[in-house]
Amino acid sequence: MVSFFYIILNQQTGTMEKTKKEGTVKFYSGKEVPLEMHKVRIVQSIKLVPVERRLEAIREAGFNTFLLGTKDIFLDMLTDSGTNAMSDEQLSKMFVADDAYAGSQSFVKFQKSVAHVFGKNLVLPVHQGRAAENIISQVFVTKGSVVPMNYHFTTTLAHIQLNGGTVVELYTPEAMVIKSTHPFKGNIDIARLEELIVKHSPENVPFIRMEASTNLIGGQPFSMENLKDVRKIADKYKIIIVLDASLIGENAYFIRKREAAYSDSSIAEILNEMCSLSDIVYFSGRKVSSSRGGAICTNSRDLFNKMKDLVPLYEGFLTYGGISIREIEAMTVGLYETLEENVVGQSPAFINYAVQELDKLGLPVIMPGGALGCHVEAQKFLPQIPQSEYPAGALVAAFYIISGIRGMERGTLSSIRDEAGNDIYAELELMRLAFPRRVFTLSQVEYIIDRLNWLYHNRELVGGLRFVEEPPVLRFFTGRLDATSPWPEKLMAKFRADFGDSL
Ligand code: F0G
Repeated sequence: MVSFFYIILNQQTGTMEKTKKEGTVKFYSGKEVPLEMHKVRIVQSIKLVPVERRLEAIREAGFNTFLLGTKDIFLDMLTDSGTNAMSDEQLSKMFVADDAYAGSQSFVKFQKSVAHVFGKNLVLPVHQGRAAENIISQVFVTKGSVVPMNYHFTTTLAHIQLNGGTVVELYTPEAMVIKSTHPFKGNIDIARLEELIVKHSPENVPFIRMEASTNLIGGQPFSMENLKDVRKIADKYKIIIVLDASLIGENAYFIRKREAAYSDSSIAEILNEMCSLSDIVYFSGRKVSSSRGGAICTNSRDLFNKMKDLVPLYEGFLTYGGISIREIEAMTVGLYETLEENVVGQSPAFINYAVQELDKLGLPVIMPGGALGCHVEAQKFLPQIPQSEYPAGALVAAFYIISGIRGMERGTLSSIRDEAGNDIYAELELMRLAFPRRVFTLSQVEYIIDRLNWLYHNRELVGGLRFVEEPPVLRFFTGRLDATSPWPEKLMAKFRADFGDSL
């Protein structure tokens, strides 16, 4: 029998106590194992190329894992975007897509799923999450706008800035504590939110943005209580709330597990309540619904009308939004599946397992485990590398060389420069190892833990990186770097010495 986890939130200290394990089954040995509640019916072969080729490949890629080819990648942990496993139901529905430029009945099904899952009746389809951000920013952000949020996401920040706005992150101090027991490190600081609105005056604040399972601080959720408090402020100053629901299923799962008042609520009830507290809900279908696509949803005809004309301009007609109709069918089923605890709880359970094991080994990982991935703190892992030499980028490159696993840098390299051309240092230098839903097996997770542990014991061999080609916008996608010394060769030699001819 699957045992579930109940966490009692201690209101005074904000810490959580486990009374049962999260999404695990107890084995006779006593071990709590995140047993897979799905079976594999379609597989894709992957290869683990030798360490010599891995070093060559990362050099060819300018030490940027975005530029690696999948032929050289063993476990692709770059992202969960568009890489979650799809269900048999999703795949089968793709074959009955009603392809039409306008008036597709597949879109009608999609509208019904959005109404059912998010409680929003007006839907604008877009090709992916950042396309929603483009439209929302173009409509609501103007020069001088100030947009408060719990934390930014890279594409969100870029779109708001492009339209002349400024992003202000109002996370709580707990958000930056690496090893914490706080259940809701994604909460926004309510007192600072009100101060900011008063300081800049409400008419300069076009919306308050809340990001579910806050990506860049380690997939950390916010609580319903926090969102309700944001609603009160929003009502007081007549400002709308925009909810980024790209990882909302996992946030709802954490509310159920960690917020005492919701331990008896279903994921469906929680999702509905989160969305009812928000005026606009947008999402990346590549994440939330394990498909492709995205959408902007609302119940306000006025807000809908303000945005709708930009959809045919940038995306496609209002009933396909630049997405293939097949994907609209898959997105529809995927949204219904976010109501299932075994679906939205799968990555959190695996992440929690990895994080607990890595913590036991003394590795600096973000705790508690969140959604999306396991996050390793690079400044603690590689204290010898200054932020100017991108410790998180170096960690990601080193980890690829010794494991064939592709992670993503989420630190200064993913940040931007100030007007004087200096790097704006990230508060957290993270290597993100994404766990796409239902993609990896537990022995693959054991491999991740083992190789990361080896790297930790050989961390003094890792050196820094410097840019050799740096694009002005979203530089982490296509920028090229080089090692500041021949450390990659030394690391490879040590790997060979320790593992012999093993891959
Ligand atoms: N919002 C959040 C919270 C996201 O995580 C993402 C994408 C987006 C918006 C943009 O959506 O990619 O469909 O355009 N996150 C991916 C990631 C890229 O790897 O975390 P998109």
